[in-house]
Amino acid sequence: MGGYVRISKVFGTLTGVMLKIWAYSGIVLFVCFVLYYFYGGIFAFILLIFAATGIIYHAEDNFLFNPDLPSHSRVFVPIPSMYNLPYESVQIKSIDGTMINMFFIHQPQERQRQSPTIVFFHGNAGNMGHRLQNCVGLYHNLHCNILLVEYRGYGLSEGTPSEEGLYMDARASIDYLYSRNDINHSEIIVFGRSLGGAVAIDLASRAEYAEKIWCLVVENTFTSIPDMAKVLLQWRLLNYLPLICYKNKFISLYKVIHLRIPTLFISGMADTLVPPRMMTELHNRCASSKKQLLKLNSGTHNETWTLPGYYHALAVFLQNCRIQVLENRRQYPLAENETLHNSIWTHAENI
Ligand SMILES: *[C@@H]1O[C@H](CO)[C@@H](O)[C@H](O)[C@H]1NC(C)=O
Ligand SMILES: *[C@@H]1O[C@H](CO)[C@@H](O)[C@H](O)[C@H]1NC(C)=O
Ligand SMILES: *[C@@H]1O[C@H](CO)[C@@H](O)[C@H](O)[C@H]1NC(C)=O
Repeated sequence: MGGYVRISKVFGTLTGVMLKIWAYSGIVLFVCFVLYYFYGGIFAFILLIFAATGIIYHAEDNFLFNPDLPSHSRVFVPIPSMYNLPYESVQIKSIDGTMINMFFIHQPQERQRQSPTIVFFHGNAGNMGHRLQNCVGLYHNLHCNILLVEYRGYGLSEGTPSEEGLYMDARASIDYLYSRNDINHSEIIVFGRSLGGAVAIDLASRAEYAEKIWCLVVENTFTSIPDMAKVLLQWRLLNYLPLICYKNKFISLYKVIHLRIPTLFISGMADTLVPPRMMTELHNRCASSKKQLLKLNSGTHNETWTLPGYYHALAVFLQNCRIQVLENRRQYPLAENETLHNSIWTHAENI
């Protein structure tokens, strides 16, 4: 009963108000007209700005993530056996459940456990299959296993790319390696080129993952996406654009100050996309006590890895990381006449 009384009361009040508005609707219409006449321009302008920033905010994704370039990249992914590399095709759930693909390229059974494992994060275009020639070089020169990671929304992986999504995929790839007991967990190398460098830096700057990683190698990567926008667009206005307007930030510059693991920065000095000064800046800011900046004179953005001396430099860096692990364990430096036994890089000078 009480409920009925309340409802009928509310209904009654509402009807009253409606009747009044109806009665005065002429005036309401007039007020509306006046508002529109004098302030319509401002409302329209605000709406326009709102819509325009919304479009730009979301269009950033299309500039940054290019999984469809070159065409068919989401349909056709070259496989490692095309390059005579033994591999397993792996599907895992990322941290949020998105299914992503990876290639685990492994050394022959008897060497697999003794070999380090490189986790490879590629750049913003194409798919992981487009990096296989580079993997051939890593595989044969450094005698490593390689986990090639396909980000969400790239190649045959599900989902759509996003900054947080790529970071999650990176963490999932390390979790996956730790779920395997046929590799050496003490020697996991994280490698990232270009956009992949930002993904690698994010991963290695997280304390809980840093302790699972042996060392970090980044190549031709940028300080942040806002910095890249300034370089590419050269609009002075961008200097005043607040960070919040960038959907994708990838601010490696703030993250390198948290790095503690050995880090190698490979900088192609002929990179016309990412200015080499950004690599220098990242190196300078990196807080690792064991860091190295390798400048390769004719290295371009995509092809620095084809230069002579590239794999040699990597081998020397990894060799030094091994020596440091031994020294830390023994608390005193290796004698000059001592060499690492069973080192897979004892002939690094020949690479
Ligand atoms: C794994 O790597 C660590 C650190 O370099 C090394 O001490 C250990 O012997 C390696 N394990 C195997 C099975 O090679
Ligand atoms: C690098 O390669 C990608 C595709 O793999 C291409 O879209 C891009 O233009 C290249 N960049 C440079 C600077 O050559
Ligand atoms: C290295 O040299 C020291 C003395 O200089 C010697 O005692 C040691 O046996 C040498 N070690 C090797 C592996 O030759």
